[in-house]
Amino acid sequence: MSDLCTYVIFGATGNLSRLKLIPALYHLEVARKLPAETRIVISGRRSWNQEKCISEVRQWVSERARQPLDEELFSRFAGRISYFRGDLSDASMWGRLKRYLEPEGHGLTQLPQNIAFYMSIRPADFGPVVERLGEVELLQQRRGWRRVVIEKPFGYDLQSAHELQQSLSRHLREEQIYRIDHYLGKSTVQNVLVFRFANTLLEPLWNRHYIEQVQITHSERIGVGSRAAYYEDSGAMRDMIQSHLLQLLTLVAMEPPVSMEAESLRDEKVKVLKSVRPIGDDQVDRHAFRARYSKGVIDDEEVAAYLDEESVPADSTTETYAALKLYIDNWRWQGVPFYLRTGKRMAERQSMISICFRHPPQQLFRNMAAGPLKQNWVILGIQPCDCLRVEMTVKESGLDMAIRQTSLDASLRGVQQEKIDAYEELLLDVMDGDRALFLRYDEVEYAWGIVDPVIRSWRRSGEAIPEYTAGSWGPQESRRLFDKSEQHWRHSITLEND
Ligand code: BG6
Repeated sequence: MSDLCTYVIFGATGNLSRLKLIPALYHLEVARKLPAETRIVISGRRSWNQEKCISEVRQWVSERARQPLDEELFSRFAGRISYFRGDLSDASMWGRLKRYLEPEGHGLTQLPQNIAFYMSIRPADFGPVVERLGEVELLQQRRGWRRVVIEKPFGYDLQSAHELQQSLSRHLREEQIYRIDHYLGKSTVQNVLVFRFANTLLEPLWNRHYIEQVQITHSERIGVGSRAAYYEDSGAMRDMIQSHLLQLLTLVAMEPPVSMEAESLRDEKVKVLKSVRPIGDDQVDRHAFRARYSKGVIDDEEVAAYLDEESVPADSTTETYAALKLYIDNWRWQGVPFYLRTGKRMAERQSMISICFRHPPQQLFRNMAAGPLKQNWVILGIQPCDCLRVEMTVKESGLDMAIRQTSLDASLRGVQQEKIDAYEELLLDVMDGDRALFLRYDEVEYAWGIVDPVIRSWRRSGEAIPEYTAGSWGPQESRRLFDKSEQHWRHSITLEND
């Protein structure tokens, strides 16, 4: 069982908390992972009383729960929750919060003094909120541990990440900071490590001698929705590539860690990021591509162009699609291109890592295949399908010597098994003090260093942004990133559609 703890969620009435955090905590209740004394303080600006807060929480949980709401468990869950009204910009709130959290401050029930503060707030408020918590001494670990969970984005570029880090480290030691990247909480993402380091089968092939290219794709069918205020300053490169996709790249490319301890893992991830070849100002076009969705049809419904979405300015230059080619200049990966790609309003919702192996040195069966000989691919499906596929060439049964592709498939989630949300795992890890799936500052720093030159060059460029029709796989021009003309984007985990 995890440590007793009080979770204080700032910005608790916002989207992330409603859609992810509170439902995840409820699922932990259902899984009986929350110690009896765990408390949850929901902090927001709205003038709710306790009753209103619980009725809202009931609504959020009912909408997202994997099973119909269990009244007994919900009432246990509701018993952990209290509402604390406060405006982050109100100077008097912090003293009030301190008194509220103190052992003698909460009336009948004493709150556990191990406290995790979850920053589900605007990134611009991360630094100031930590400052205020520090000033009222809520971050001092006298009576129990104090931890702060920081959502992404950690900074806006290298410089602002550095400034944020400086302001956090005035009040927090590194081991108190939990920089979240929810992709690391996804079970198939963790499976990349198990797949690589718990099996001997592939490790000898996991290098530049056998692997021709690696693709990491995240595509979504949804558009920007009501998030334009955030997305306009972010764009696909910052929103997905700087964080989630570069994290996936580190897991695919890292050397075996000394152990699965947080620091050993992070050391290896940082070594990968450090080895990524910097993209020079004059090479941006060869390494990066951006685009924006125009109107189109998804699920038989017409959807608007990005420029026509709510709150998007007419002169917006924000990309909703970004692709990046990276090289990792180390012994294992020299010369192997890693293609990273993400987009909103694409043809499918798909996250996967696709590893393409080289052709055998001699093509003995060239005349027996219907078309050109196919390469072996290993596909790690992250979502919607948690699966592993190894594609191979085999002989057709029968008298003729004809060959075809087949695949060895493993579903990583049993048919009966529920899909656990990444936040469940991560919220539990915060309580357990396990930082293996959270980012160390140097990881964030090197990741910004990789994408910063591209973002700077795009900002300076006066060129029009290419468009792709909503519901498509993005513009054909993105193919210009490929090293070889026969390379193509791998869109699907299945054989037929590649
Ligand atoms: C978030 C991005 O970090 O990840 C969103 O800000 C994106 O724009 C989301 O939609 C994707 O996460 P998932 O878990 O739905 O793949």
